[in-house]
Amino acid sequence: MSRIIMATVLTTLVSATAAEAAAQSTRDRAIAEGVDALVARMTLPEKIGQMTQLTLSALTAAGSPGHSTARLDPHKLHEALVVRHVGSVINVVGGALTLDGWHALLGEIQDVAVKQTRLGIPVLYGIDAVHGVNYTVNATIFPHNIGMAATFNPALVRRAAEITAAELTASGLPWNFAPVLDVGRHTAWPRFYETFGEDAYLASRLGQEATEGIQASGRVAATLKHYLAYGVPRSGRDRTPAELTRAAINAGARAVMVNSGEIDGEPVHASRYWLTDVLRGELGFDGVVVTDWADITFLHTRHRVAPTMKDAVRLAVEAGIDISMTPDNYDFADHLTQLVQEGTIPVSRIDQSVRRILRLKAQLGVLDSPYPRNSDRAFFGAQTSREVAAQAARESITLLKNDGTLPLTRDVRVLVTGPAAQSLTALNGGWTYTWQGTDAGQFPSGVPNVVDAIRARAAEVRYLPGSGFTEPGEVALAAAAAKLADVAVIVLGEDAYAEWLGDLNDLTLPDAQLRLAEAVLATGTPTVLVLLQGRPRIVNSVADRTNGIVMAYWPGMSGAEAIAQVLFGETNPAGRLPFTYPRHPNAIAPYDHKFVETLGQDLARSPRGFHPQFEFGHGLSYTTFAYTDLRLSANQLPRDGKLTVSVTVKNTGSRAGQETVLLFTRQHYAAITPQVRRLRGFQKIALEPGATRTVEFTLSSQDLEYIAADGQSVLEPGKFDVMIGSLVATFEVPPVRN
Ligand code: BGC
Repeated sequence: MSRIIMATVLTTLVSATAAEAAAQSTRDRAIAEGVDALVARMTLPEKIGQMTQLTLSALTAAGSPGHSTARLDPHKLHEALVVRHVGSVINVVGGALTLDGWHALLGEIQDVAVKQTRLGIPVLYGIDAVHGVNYTVNATIFPHNIGMAATFNPALVRRAAEITAAELTASGLPWNFAPVLDVGRHTAWPRFYETFGEDAYLASRLGQEATEGIQASGRVAATLKHYLAYGVPRSGRDRTPAELTRAAINAGARAVMVNSGEIDGEPVHASRYWLTDVLRGELGFDGVVVTDWADITFLHTRHRVAPTMKDAVRLAVEAGIDISMTPDNYDFADHLTQLVQEGTIPVSRIDQSVRRILRLKAQLGVLDSPYPRNSDRAFFGAQTSREVAAQAARESITLLKNDGTLPLTRDVRVLVTGPAAQSLTALNGGWTYTWQGTDAGQFPSGVPNVVDAIRARAAEVRYLPGSGFTEPGEVALAAAAAKLADVAVIVLGEDAYAEWLGDLNDLTLPDAQLRLAEAVLATGTPTVLVLLQGRPRIVNSVADRTNGIVMAYWPGMSGAEAIAQVLFGETNPAGRLPFTYPRHPNAIAPYDHKFVETLGQDLARSPRGFHPQFEFGHGLSYTTFAYTDLRLSANQLPRDGKLTVSVTVKNTGSRAGQETVLLFTRQHYAAITPQVRRLRGFQKIALEPGATRTVEFTLSSQDLEYIAADGQSVLEPGKFDVMIGSLVATFEVPPVRN
């Protein structure tokens, strides 16, 4: 019955979508009117229920199996949806569900919401699909964002996001807690792999593509997370994430998830300045703001800015949150009800959030059509999608070092060793089937690991584990086998982890693994390191003695094939590091550091200066490229003007290859100390051997702005260098004349 009411208020919407030019605004108006009509009929508990979000385990029977389908507890479901009017549910219990499992689960939940509640408002289900739909069995799994960033291929990032959205729709899931748009400014951060790397420009270009890709069909909402400054910015970079968020907000992101941390001692969940003044005022965001996990409670219990839970709720609602990911109790709802009843929080503030939430449900079609549709399943797991994931894995693999040992020929005797060599969990990382990604039992069968992929190619392959990820193994056996081999491939790195369970005290690769590398290197057999890891673990003690190093990040289900294709030269590697690979655990300055950080460049005399293991943007190929003729269209870039920068790139080797042309600028002087260089543009091109291409970039004065102390973008006049490869040209931004 109530479904019919909703359908009635939204009928104009259906007819409006058929119209051409004014369709969008007509639709928006229809949604707004429908939502207003609905809000007018809602009681306070019904409204506060919409602002309450539960995790699935709060609705399931104890001991529910995670795999396939979690068993809903009818009493808990009734309490949540009918008595408490809960508006959204998230997550899985224990692990991924099959497509059937999702359809059954969502069908049951919507049946209660639609048929048994007074107004029949369907539930909005949210999930973390952060590298493909990682909580649906057999979904297409992509490399984690850090690997996607290494492709420097915006179109590929967009395509992966579109596929993810289509597979979410196939699963019946309309709300994605992605993309992660935190900038990876600290390499030890256990969520580093979820980021697009350390550079704000790259992350903002790719973040925009990911956001648009997720939302392109109109049936899935993206959530920018975690607003703001979660990526552990260094001092002086505090506003960088704001810059980043702006690009994705301009891309039309429908939701934002709040950072669980603090900025200058103020928890973001309690900050009216960040959540309302900046996010809504300055950035113009008008979607839904959802908290992160239990973060309103943590204002009281962890951050200690709220003496009671009730104060915590007041602070967060006054700051501007719309939905509380509680995630398993009704404290938020109870306290908020009291705060409204006693007049501390006006009903108008509640209505504001409820309107945004209902509008999101309407925009996604959840109010009209809440059930998963069988007709959406067809696209799931398509071969073409698998090929996109394979391409992404191939394009992500980054060849960091090669003395000519690579590519390998198929007639070699290979020793493969190392704890990651036979591991599917270390190929996929966290957020794969389970939150931590460590339950290999849930992985589909038939997915090759690195040993399998090398065996499919080389004449003679011996595999010995050599060591555990942290536990020492039989190093002497591995060394003895290395002596008998033509080449040793040591697959080292990190097993899967997610969030704080991946916290570290030392970024150095564990001793057990380094000892294995030492023992193999001591045999004198040519040795290639393959690194499967979510962040750049320090390999300085062995790097110089290796013959080759391949950085594979966490490339996903097709990662082993991609690695083997690069090792054997079937693919010419083209990945580029989207971050600075540190040489020492205490020297983790990013590429866009300040000039003072380069003092003491003489490594022999001082540990100061900037001496990373590998630089941002580094990545070798089996061919070579030469850059010439860096040209500027003018020697001045007036405000509101444009400057064309061109450079000629030639493939000087004997193989076809892809090259990412990176354009950096450097301001000579500025009021806020300028960085030594900043990425302002990139283009990835493909060149046949001997072929030449002139690549053009257009710089506008906005491209040269930086965020000043007052948080505003400024462009200061003065001289700038533009740098591509080792070429440098200089131009000037003239002062403004009054
Ligand atoms: C993470 C979020 C995630 C949420 C829901 C939190 O612990 O920080 O990124 O979206 O859980 O799973």
